[in-house]
Amino acid sequence: MQKRSLGIRGPEISALGFGAMSLGGTFGPTTEAESFDCLDAMLEAGITFIDTANIYGMGVSEEVIGRWLASRRPQGMVLATKAGIVSGPPRRIDNSPAYLRAELEASLRRLGVERVDLFYLHRREADRPLAEVIGTLQDLERAGKIGGYGLSEIAPETLREAHALHPCRAVQNEYSLWSRQPELGLVQECARLGVSFVAFSPLARGMLGNAPLPAAAVTDWFRRDNPRFTGANFLRNTARIDRFRAWCAARGWSVPATALAWVMAAGPHVVPIPGTRRAERLREWLDLPRLGPAERAEIETILPAGFAAGDRYGDGQILAIERYC
Ligand SMILES: NC(=O)c1ccc[n+]([C@@H]2O[C@H](COP(=O)([O-])OP(=O)(O)OC[C@H]3O[C@@H](n4cnc5c(N)ncnc54)[C@H](OP(=O)(O)O)[C@@H]3O)[C@@H](O)[C@H]2O)c1
Repeated sequence: MQKRSLGIRGPEISALGFGAMSLGGTFGPTTEAESFDCLDAMLEAGITFIDTANIYGMGVSEEVIGRWLASRRPQGMVLATKAGIVSGPPRRIDNSPAYLRAELEASLRRLGVERVDLFYLHRREADRPLAEVIGTLQDLERAGKIGGYGLSEIAPETLREAHALHPCRAVQNEYSLWSRQPELGLVQECARLGVSFVAFSPLARGMLGNAPLPAAAVTDWFRRDNPRFTGANFLRNTARIDRFRAWCAARGWSVPATALAWVMAAGPHVVPIPGTRRAERLREWLDLPRLGPAERAEIETILPAGFAAGDRYGDGQILAIERYC
C-alpha cells in the first residue's frame, strides 16, 4: 500500500483510507461481525486511515470501530471523526464551542481513545464567525484531544480564511468520476497550502462497482431521494458507466480499483475514502492499476466531467453545503 502524509506534517497514512459510514447502516443493514470482517480486511490490506463521524448510525460506526480497536489493538491506525450536523429533525448545523466539545468527548468515548488524529467540522455553520470556530478547534488541539482539524463540504475561500487563522490538516469533499467540482479550485488550493484533500464517496455511492447497481438495491434514505439514483437519470447514469465497465473489463481491471486510481491520480495530497459493508468488496479496491496520461484521457472521454444526469444532492440533502461555482 502506498503512503501519503496527512497534511504537511503527517502522520503518515495509507494512500487509500476506509470510510466507515456504511458500518452505521447508511446503505442498508449490517452486523458487527460483518463490520469486523471489513476492518480486518482493511488491516490486512495495509489501510491505516479510518474515517467516521458522530452521526454515522448515530454513534454505531464509532462504537463498532472502538470495539474492533480494543479487540485487535492495531499499530499505527490514524483516526478521523467529525461533528457539526445535528440530525434532528429538523436537521441543523451547530458549530458552537459547547456542541463541538461535547460531541468530541462522546466520540472519544465511543472509539475508546483519548485523542483522534483529525477532527472535522462536518458542515460549516454559515452565520457563526469562522474565527470563533477555528479557535474552538485550536483549543481542542492544544488540549491534546485532536491532532489537527479538518473541514468538510467547504469552498476554497473558507479554506483560505480558516488556514490563515490556524493551519488546517485536511479538507473532505465529494470527489469522483461523477462529482468533479473540487477540480475547480479546491484540490489546487489544498495542494498550495499543504492540506490533504480527502475524497469522499469516490465510488459514486456504489455506482462504480464491477456490476451495475441493481435498481432494487436503491432503498436507503439517501439514494432513494437522490436525483442521480432516481427515474430516467439512474438509467442514463448506469448506461454511461456500463461503457466504463466494458473499458475496464477489456484490460482485466477492477472497476472500483480503477475509479479509485483515477481519484488518486489527482495529486499526491489526494486520499480517497471508499466505504463498504463487505470484506470481499473491499478487496476489489486493492489491485490499483497504474494510470498514465493516455489511460486517464481515455477514461475522461468515456466519462467526461459533467457526464452524470442529475445533481449530486437533492434539495432536502444540500443543507450547509458551501457552493462556489
Ligand atoms: N463529509 C461528508 O459529508 C461525507 C459524506 C458522505 C460520505 N463520507 C465519507 O466517505 C465515505 C465513503 O463514501 P460513501 O460510502 O458515501 O460512498 P462510496 O464509497 O462512493 O460508495 C459506497 C457504496 O459503494 C458500495 N461498494 C463499495 N465497494 C464496492 C465494490 N467493490 N463493488 C460494488 N459496490 C461497492 C457500497 O456497498 P455496500 O455497503 O453494500 O458494500 C456502498 O453502497 C463514507 O464512509 C464516509 O466516511 C463523508
